[in-house]
Amino acid sequence: GREGDLRGLKVLVTAAGTREPIDPVRFVGNRSSGKMGYAVAQMAAERGAEVLLISGPSALAVPPNVKAVQVESTNEMLEACLAAYDAVDIVIKAAAVADYRPRDVADQKIKKKTDDALTVVMDKNPDILKTLGAKKTHQVLVGFAAETQNLLANAREKVVKKNLDMIVANDVTAAGAGFNSDTNIVKFLYANGDVCELEQMPKVDVANRILDEALRIRRERA
Ligand code: C5P
Repeated sequence: GREGDLRGLKVLVTAAGTREPIDPVRFVGNRSSGKMGYAVAQMAAERGAEVLLISGPSALAVPPNVKAVQVESTNEMLEACLAAYDAVDIVIKAAAVADYRPRDVADQKIKKKTDDALTVVMDKNPDILKTLGAKKTHQVLVGFAAETQNLLANAREKVVKKNLDMIVANDVTAAGAGFNSDTNIVKFLYANGDVCELEQMPKVDVANRILDEALRIRRERA
C-alpha cells in the first residue's frame, strides 16, 4: 500500500510555467497549467512526504500540507531549487521552464512605434534540471519531457545528458494528454534504457505512479 510510504522523505516538486519579463506589463510564457506538478505535490503530501512545491504562476490552489514557493522566471526557479536541493530526497521536475529570456527588460512599458516589426533578442536560460543533475549526490532526480515530435528519442537523450534517474515523457499534442488536460498519457524512461508505457489516466494517478518509481529507485540504491 501507499499509505504513509513517503513519511520521513523530503520531496521537491516544480510546477507550472515560468515567465520571462519583456517590460513591466509583458512576459514570454507558455501553456503549462501546473496540473501535473500540483498533482505530484498533492499525492506526495497525502503519502506522508514533506513537500516543497516551487511553482511558476498558476491558477491552482496549493494542496494541503504542501509548502509553496512562488516564482516567476527561470532564474528565480533555479535559485529556489538550489537553495532546497541538498536537503531533499526526491526531485520531480514537472515545470515547463522557459529556455530563453528577453535580453533587455525595459523599465517602462514599450510603446507602439511606427515600425511594423519589433525585435526581441533572447538569451539562453540556465537548464535547472541539468544543473541539479550535475550536482546530484543522494537525490532521486525525475524530469519531464514534453515533446511534439520524436518523443522517445528526445526523452532518451535527456535522461543521459541531464543525469536523471527517470524521465516522464508525454506527447503534448495527443488528445487526453499534456497541457491543461486532467488526464495524461506518459512513458517512463530510465537511465538504463528501460521504457514503461502507461495507459491514459488521471494526472493524480500518473502522479502516484511517478512517486512509486522514485521510491523504488531510492530503495534499490540503498
Ligand atoms: O526543456 P526540456 O524539454 O529539456 O525540459 C525537460 C526537463 O527539463 C523538464 O523536467 C523541465 O522542467 C526541465 N528544464 C529545466 N530548466 C530548463 C529547461 C527545462 O529544469 N531551462
